[in-house]
Order: sequence, then structure tokens, then C-alpha cells
Amino acid sequence: MHRLLVAQLKKSHGISFDIDNMTPEVQKLLELIEESYKDQDRELELLEHVLATSSNELTAANRSLTNSHELLKSVTESIADIIFYKDTESRYMGCNKRFSELAGIPANEIIGKSDHDIFDKKYADLFRSMDKKMFESSQPQLNREWITYPDGHSAYFLTLKSPLLNSRGELLGLVGISHDITKEHEMTEELKAKNSMLIHQSRFAAMGEMIGNIAHQWRQPLNALGLLLQNIEIAYQHGDLDDAYLDRSVKKGTRLTVQMSQTIDDFRNFFRPNKIAEMFNIHDSVHKAIELIRPSLVNDEIAITFTGDQTLQVMGFPSEFSQVILNLLTNAKDELIERSIPHKNIYIRLHQDKEAIHIEIEDNAGGIRDEVIEKVFDPYFSTKEEGKGTGIGLYMSKTIIENNMKGRLIVTNTSQGACFSIILS
Ligand SMILES: Nc1ncnc2c1ncn2[C@@H]1O[C@H](COP(=O)(O)OP(=O)(O)OP(=O)(O)O)[C@@H](O)[C@H]1O
Ligand SMILES: [Mg+2]
Repeated sequence: MHRLLVAQLKKSHGISFDIDNMTPEVQKLLELIEESYKDQDRELELLEHVLATSSNELTAANRSLTNSHELLKSVTESIADIIFYKDTESRYMGCNKRFSELAGIPANEIIGKSDHDIFDKKYADLFRSMDKKMFESSQPQLNREWITYPDGHSAYFLTLKSPLLNSRGELLGLVGISHDITKEHEMTEELKAKNSMLIHQSRFAAMGEMIGNIAHQWRQPLNALGLLLQNIEIAYQHGDLDDAYLDRSVKKGTRLTVQMSQTIDDFRNFFRPNKIAEMFNIHDSVHKAIELIRPSLVNDEIAITFTGDQTLQVMGFPSEFSQVILNLLTNAKDELIERSIPHKNIYIRLHQDKEAIHIEIEDNAGGIRDEVIEKVFDPYFSTKEEGKGTGIGLYMSKTIIENNMKGRLIVTNTSQGACFSIILS
């Protein structure tokens, strides 16, 4: 060992030793030098070890940093939404590829740029104003906006901009996510359009129904008016047209036209949602309906018998109620004529028991066939030939009684015919 040391000393310091003839002191000195070298080696070894460990740790830390960076990148790239982050000066610090598609430039060229460097002034101004709003409030801001891609197609975005904070809670800038809601937006718009269309249609249908009903209610008084005019002509031809006759005819005609105009008012009220119910006398209301149809009943030799309490009062809509009676009477009359019943009869009974007021309208036309009795209240159900019935008479009647007067309208077949009962409790 000494040889090596002696050679080293000669080489680096120019000191020569005669190895074979060394005094014990020199030998001791050499040993001490040798020891000190060994100590230095050990220290070096230790240092090397420490360095190696640190380097390993650094490599591991570096690897972990690279991994988390890559993971973050994968996350932002995998999300189908547009992601971007800006500093407090609104300069881009990063984005995902969805954003660079929208901007029309590669992601690495976006970093450090502002909205005005990338987008049209219109969009840049809009984005900046949104940024400003977020920075001023320090609260996440939501915005909906149409944006056009460089290829010309547009998309409707829901953008959320939130403060971007570091681990110490200091503001670094903002982070934004834009979600493409074009489909949802189109669906909502479609729905809105459909809805307003539906409202329009239903209003139209209601109007149509109203016109249909007025026409329906006018049939009788119109026929009666026609008859009246014919009678005046005949009376004139026979020389019977005196003052009294003319006066009576004019009065009758006036009454009919007043009724017709009342019908319009009644229906207008019926379609007016905020109508006020009132107390009315049932007998009077039924009587009004009978009077309206009486000319044609007489003409068709139909006897009508009306019995019952003349004082009964109910809460509701008297004109509508008269219309119901009119519908039921017209139906009975139609069946009596259709089936050529020899002694045509309609009975109207009015009475009250502990629970309710009952109004029954019965005819002797033979009743309703079992197969259809369930359907008579359905809208547009009619057994009458085209032009003679629309099938809304009973539907309307049931609606008036059950929806507007909270009563019930039912039908049964009796031994002689159909019996419609209105029950008002
Ligand atoms: N008194 C009755 N006797 C026998 N069948 C009846 C009677 N009343 C109604 N019906 C039957 O019920 C159906 C429906 O009546 P509804 O009043 O709703 O319509 P419609 O009389 O046919 O037409 P609209 O009244 O609209 O002019 C009638 O077509 C008829 O077949
Ligand atoms: Mg009818």
C-alpha cells in the first residue's frame, strides 16, 4: 500500500521516499497520510451516496410531476367541453384542443395571447366583458352565447367562468368551461314554438266550437223566423194581414232575434273564463228554453209537460243552464220525429230531495241503444246523418253541468224512452 502512496506523493508533490530504508517516523507519517486519504474517500463515498439518493428522488419527483401534468392534460383533452384558463390580465395560460378548434389556431400559439389577438372584435369584447364581470364579483359567471367556428358553423354555448386560485387561495386568473347546448337550445325553441302553436290552435278550436254552437242554437229560432215571414206572406195573400196580426208577428220576430243575440252573449260568456256565478230560478230557466223551442214542438205535434217546484233556486249560470235544457229538448224532439212516434211526448220534472235538486227530461221515443249509451256524451258522437247532428250537444251539456255547476248529467233508458237527469247538490 505504501508503494502506491509514495508513487502518488512523488507524482503530485515531487517528494521521493526510499521505501526500503524508511525511519519509523517516516513510516508513521506515511501511515497517517494514508489514513487521512481513506477518511476522505469515505466522505466522498458518503457524498456520492447522498447525491445519488437525491438524484433518484429528483427523478422520481420529476416523473410524478410529468405524470400529473400528463394526467391533467389527458383530463382536459378528454373532456368534450371547451376548457381554457387566463391570467388576471385575461391572457391565455392554456386551453384544450376543443378551444383551439374554436379559435382556429394551435394550442401552443394561444398561450400569452388575449381574446383580441385571437377572435373577432365582437366576440373578444364580449369575452372580455364577461371576464371583467367575473373578476369584479370574484364569483363564477354563467353566460349563453352563439359563437361561429372558423369553418362557418355556429354553436350555442353555455360558458361558466370561475376564479382560478392557487393552493394559498391567491387569484391567478380564471378558468372557463364552455358546453355546447345547441341541440338543447333548438329543442327548447322548438317546444316554445310548438306550445304557442298549440295555444293558437286551441284558441282556434274554441272559436270554431263557439261558432258551431251558436249555429246549433240558432237553428230553431232561424226556422221559426223563416216560418214567421212565410206566414206573414200567406196572411197577406189571404187578406188576413191586419194591424193586430202584423203587430203580433213583429213582436214574435223581435223576441226571436233578441234570443238569438242572447245566444251569442251566452256563448261569449261561456268562453270568458272569469264569469261570475249567480243565484237563479231553475223553473224560469227551463221555461226560457221551452219557449225557445215551442214553435217547432207545436209544429211537430210534440206535447210537452213541465211539472215541479217553481221556487227552486241554484247557484250557477242561467243562460248556460237554459242551453243544456235546450240541447236535451232538441235531442228528444229529433228522436221522436226520426222514429215517427205516434203520440210524441216530452216530460220535464223538477224536484228536490234531501241531497239535491233533480231535473229530469224524459221522452217516449224508445230510448238509446245499449251499444251507444256509453258514448253519447263523447264529443262528436252522433247517430244522426251528416248535417243533422255534430255530436257536441251532450258533450257541451255535460261540460256545463259538471265543470261549471259542479253537478251531474246522466242518462238512463226508461220503459218508454230516454231520461236525462241533471243532479245539482
Ligand atoms: N233523447 C234521446 N233519445 C235517443 N237517443 C238520443 C237522445 N238524446 C241523444 N241521443 C243520442 O245521442 C247522440 C249524441 O247526442 P248529441 O246531442 O251529443 O249530438 P247530436 O244531437 O247527434 O248532434 P248535435 O246535438 O251536436 O246537433 C245522438 O246522436 C243520439 O244518437
Ligand atoms: Mg243534440
